[in-house]
Amino acid sequence: MVHPEGTESPPGLVQHRPEAPARIVVLVSGSGTNLQALIDAERAGPAFGGTIVAVGADRTGIQGLERAEQAGIPAFALRVKDFASRQEWDRALRDRVAEYAPDLVVSAGFMKLLGPDFLAAFGGRVINTHPALSPSFPGMHGPADALAYGVKITGCTVFFVAGGVDDGPIIAQAAVAVEDGDDVSALHERIKTAERALLVDVVGRLARQGWTIDLGKRKVTLP
Ligand code: GAR
Repeated sequence: MVHPEGTESPPGLVQHRPEAPARIVVLVSGSGTNLQALIDAERAGPAFGGTIVAVGADRTGIQGLERAEQAGIPAFALRVKDFASRQEWDRALRDRVAEYAPDLVVSAGFMKLLGPDFLAAFGGRVINTHPALSPSFPGMHGPADALAYGVKITGCTVFFVAGGVDDGPIIAQAAVAVEDGDDVSALHERIKTAERALLVDVVGRLARQGWTIDLGKRKVTLP
């Protein structure tokens, strides 16, 4: 494959070395606290290495979009129900995100699976954060499923999106203990505290250092 700067990678390897500052598009569906953590990290100074060039959502009326507007970041919403098919929505999302020429797309609480057309355009440049320790408890209810199973340790996972449900090559994970008396909300909030720190750390490192993904071995290297 050839990455945007034109360096050829060996087969099975995806490499990307953004020019500073790396251009980041963040996708959200809800409260957007992970987005806010990234906005705060960027505002703390250029050492972060990235700039959020747009925020996209799959719905309107959410706090995530308000956070973008308050920060003066271009924001848009594309709702699946406004398109004739899921594929048309996926292509519209691809085209809208492409307008911002991102080095990195961060799915931060974006509650839709990105489709084949989107991933064909941005494959190897899309990361997601999930509130469980992959490969356990994929899907929409990671904290609830971990609690129901009775695990004593859960956490969060930041990974490259590869087309399945929370199953792409893992970049980083953080563990969070389940405490006696936890309900889903208390556990998820504690996971989110760890998740925001992990996401900011990972996005900053990707932005500053670039990355290599060995797809065959599912191995991610940050030089
Ligand atoms: C985060 O915990 C994120 O991991 C989760 O939604 C929350 C969004 O919080 N995503 C998933 O469960 C996707 N499988 P935020 O809107 O406050 O950033």
